[in-house]
Amino acid sequence: MDVDILKELDELKREHRELLQRLRELDRSLNGLSIASTDAATVVEALQGLCRLLKNEIMVHCAREKESLLPVLLNRGWGHHTVVRELQNEDVLLRREYERLKRALAGVKSTGTRRALETLVSTGERVISMIVEHIHQEEADIFPLLEREG
Ligand SMILES: [Fe+2]
Ligand SMILES: [Fe+2]
Repeated sequence: MDVDILKELDELKREHRELLQRLRELDRSLNGLSIASTDAATVVEALQGLCRLLKNEIMVHCAREKESLLPVLLNRGWGHHTVVRELQNEDVLLRREYERLKRALAGVKSTGTRRALETLVSTGERVISMIVEHIHQEEADIFPLLEREG
């Protein structure tokens, strides 16, 4: 059993718990927003928080995963697994979601319409659920591969 990889997985799981907590908080605040009565600044602020979390923490976390887990997975011959291929691509996917959020934010700033606000909130909610699902999938599919065989 590879001790270093187990240590790394523990650390990544700890980061997952922190990220999930932050994402849940953000999701709760988005759910609590009523587009009809909430001012745009409050909505924009919440979504800017999500953008920062994505860029400063989630992307950093995923880059670390790719760097530390991918070579081990490839080395053990698991490169063909769908989940492993996803790990190779997730930085591209995250960047795409980040750009989407940025565009939705810019849309609110330039038009200020309720429709743009709705798009922003639904984009944010989609990004959050995508990341939550991604984290669960890693813990369900990728981490056990590494824990099982050292
Ligand atoms: Fe990841
Ligand atoms: Fe992760």
